[in-house]
Amino acid sequence: SAERIRAGLGERLGLAPAVVITDTFGRAWRSGVVNVAIGCAGLPALVDLRGTPDDRGRILEATVVALADEVAAASGLVIGKASRTPAALVRGLAFRGPSLPARALVRAPEDDLFRSSPLEAISSRRTIRSFGPGGVPREVLEEAIRAACTAPAPHHTRPWMFSVLESPGARRGLRAAMAAAWRADLERDGVPEAVIARRLARSDAVLGAAPVLIVPWVRFEGAHPYPDPERAGAEREMFLLSGGAAIQNLLLALHAQGFASAWISSTLFCQEETRAALGVEEGWRALGTVAVGRPPEGEPPPRPALALEEVARFL
Ligand SMILES: Cc1cc2nc3c(=O)[nH]c(=O)nc-3n(C[C@H](O)[C@H](O)[C@H](O)COP(=O)(O)O)c2cc1C
Repeated sequence: SAERIRAGLGERLGLAPAVVITDTFGRAWRSGVVNVAIGCAGLPALVDLRGTPDDRGRILEATVVALADEVAAASGLVIGKASRTPAALVRGLAFRGPSLPARALVRAPEDDLFRSSPLEAISSRRTIRSFGPGGVPREVLEEAIRAACTAPAPHHTRPWMFSVLESPGARRGLRAAMAAAWRADLERDGVPEAVIARRLARSDAVLGAAPVLIVPWVRFEGAHPYPDPERAGAEREMFLLSGGAAIQNLLLALHAQGFASAWISSTLFCQEETRAALGVEEGWRALGTVAVGRPPEGEPPPRPALALEEVARFL
């Protein structure tokens, strides 16, 4: 280890220079390899400059210098790849601060941009029905809607629209309109009052807890006209399917940005009331409501096991 090498140098030579052990490394965003530190002793692997002024007096907010990696990269200039030079002596390096080992250079899992493969990111999305404290930044929502609009759609259309309810008033208005419509339906069905109250409360527990609600819409503009109901119906289904694809993209993009979501049927059952509450023109069809928020503490339960032969038929 770097510590042992440093201690050995101290015993033999009576001085203990800082030691950096290096290896060559590819970089995620750049071609070519450079030397990085895989061990270090006697110097801080990271130098945290946050809170100190830059050359114009502005306070640095994010700068943490990977000092050990800088030393490692410099050593690569003289060590080379095949020169059998075992070590390089770096002179004149100025640093302050306590020794910090090279493992400090390895990102924590939650900061690791490449930890999750696209497939893992897809399968780890879950419907989350309760949320942690805090809101959802506008940029996160915009990014998710951009991703939603990359879904496939029939006839080269973009048949989607998203009402994003960020203000408490807008969310309250929609929830009240949906509750009134649902209550009227249930009363018409003859459902007892206690059951109605329980069902409304259970549904509102999810939508009422989310700091943002998104109502996705689809319209059938651009659908080809057919005289028979079968083809006319299939044409309509194409647009609805495209709405589902867009919503799945939306959920995945929220998940990829670290946010939780639940797609709730809700507005599907009260089209007119939803259009009125959100000021949306005739012709748009609401596809439910997506509740969005920060993930709560803890991991979601594991997904039920899948028997592939039940869902896939290879011919
Ligand atoms: C169109 C649609 C409507 C849904 N409506 C509700 C709902 O009203 N309430 C609810 O709790 N979950 C709702 N869900 C979420 C499903 O219950 C959820 O996707 C399912 O339990 C699988 O869980 P997962 O998404 O974590 O894999 C809905 C999902 C879809 C696709």
